Amino acid sequence: MPELIEVLSKEDIARRIAEVAETISHDYRESNLALVCALKGAFVFMADLGRAITVPAQIGFLGVSSYGKSTESSGKAIVTKELDLDVTDMDVLVVEDIVDTGLTLRFIMDYLTSKGARSVKVCTLLDKKERRAIEVQVDYACHLIPDGFLVGYGLDYAEKYRNLPSIYDLKL
Ligand code: IMP
Ligand code: MG
Repeated sequence: MPELIEVLSKEDIARRIAEVAETISHDYRESNLALVCALKGAFVFMADLGRAITVPAQIGFLGVSSYGKSTESSGKAIVTKELDLDVTDMDVLVVEDIVDTGLTLRFIMDYLTSKGARSVKVCTLLDKKERRAIEVQVDYACHLIPDGFLVGYGLDYAEKYRNLPSIYDLKL
């Protein structure tokens, strides 16, 4: 049986979201903010972060996949659901669950730039900074994670565990 070890509690997650949302609300106080949720992993984070941000924001969803049923990124991201928001001249903040190699994020940023965004920045719940394969700027990171494969709070392994309220290290 796979083992789940809690690494971030509901309280840990909520506390950091409140702090980061305050910073974002300040930084975007004079912008046309559009939050773009990277599906599926970021859907829970989007709901909590979005409600903690106090400046007006449009919300869009973009489906991207790079994993399949593995714990290793395939290194190739594909769009699984087109963006449902016009981001022309908008200040886009990508809402990501986790940045690992950075390849998915690079792909998303290039995609949003090609859609006419005025600026594209990134807010991620989890940052596996040490595992980066390409250079990509993460503007807001809630938690730095050294290693491991994490599930829960939107993150999955082969589509399982997304509905868990805390974040766990999955030991297969
Ligand atoms: P990257 O392209 O290697 O940076 O991978 C980023 C994407 O892979 C994220 O958007 C996640 O969907 C997924 N991912 C990376 N690490 C994990 C993990 O530890 N648990 C679940 N999904 C992950
Ligand atoms: Mg994902």
